[in-house]
Amino acid sequence: SNGEDAGAANITQQEYDTNGRLVLRQVKKGVKDFAFSRTLGEGSYSTVVLGTDRQTLKEYAVKILDKKHIIKEKKIKYVNIERDTLNRLIEHPGIVRLYYTFQDNASLYYVLDIASGGELLAVLKKIGSFNEECTRFYGAQIVCAIEHMHDRGVIHRDLKPENVLLDDQMHIKITDFGTAKLLPDPRDATAPQGEQNFVNPEQEESNRARSFVGTAEYVSPELLRDKHACKSSDLWAFGCMIYQLLAGRPPFKASNEYQTFQKIVNLEYEFPPGFPHAAKDLVERLLVLDPQRRLSIEHIKNHEFFDGVKFGRSLWRLKAPRLM
Ligand code: ADE
Repeated sequence: SNGEDAGAANITQQEYDTNGRLVLRQVKKGVKDFAFSRTLGEGSYSTVVLGTDRQTLKEYAVKILDKKHIIKEKKIKYVNIERDTLNRLIEHPGIVRLYYTFQDNASLYYVLDIASGGELLAVLKKIGSFNEECTRFYGAQIVCAIEHMHDRGVIHRDLKPENVLLDDQMHIKITDFGTAKLLPDPRDATAPQGEQNFVNPEQEESNRARSFVGTAEYVSPELLRDKHACKSSDLWAFGCMIYQLLAGRPPFKASNEYQTFQKIVNLEYEFPPGFPHAAKDLVERLLVLDPQRRLSIEHIKNHEFFDGVKFGRSLWRLKAPRLM
């Protein structure tokens, strides 16, 4: 059964300290180790709640997924993908980190970095559009996080300003890997982490292929044409985001999904007057129908739009620009 006890706290391991004294170290956190307070967000299968570690008082965003609902909606595969993906991407400042997972009879719990600045989309809506400096700063951090994902064999497949969260320093943290695609990890020949999969107690769900992954406005033309997403599909979405940060709206938007898809496959979009020249050139080299002809991450980092940006760890020590 999946019904690992809710109180699966206090699983301890015996160890000896440097003085030879026996110490008991807790190896697995459980529901009882956290005090849950306010709701931070709600998704279709989950609720994100503020959780405080009772021992350390460190705050986390705890994503609580309802098992019954996930089974009913046949989303089991995706919650396991999300966990496996996050486990592969730890240790990057631009990606929400997964600290612990546990479960009780009703729910799965994913203990994540808290991003107290909320969604990039909300910030953008509040001020309308970003200037070039802010777009460069957030764009650079997003590219850096995408590079890390791709280097570790993860395609996000649903990049959009709602899935870019901001921490207390107003630095980005990419979230929502529930629709990610996991490629064999080029850097890791070892077997999976041995984490126990959440499985349907009735029967394993079918591997029914979904016709559509992602959000209409950011979906790539290759996914619409061939039902196939690749790493550069994330770079299409990145191009849409750069456009949106500067223009205040995504490049492809219509009154319904079908018309949005038509615009995408026909590359039907326009730049508003005054759109900065270098940014226009970057977007035009990303919003390219043929995924193989889109700018690579290396070329994006060297593009004129990012002139003066030092990519690398120092990017995450910079003070965020004042939003305007
Ligand atoms: N809402 C969803 N995920 C969140 C997170 N990691 N931090 C804060 N709010 C969230």
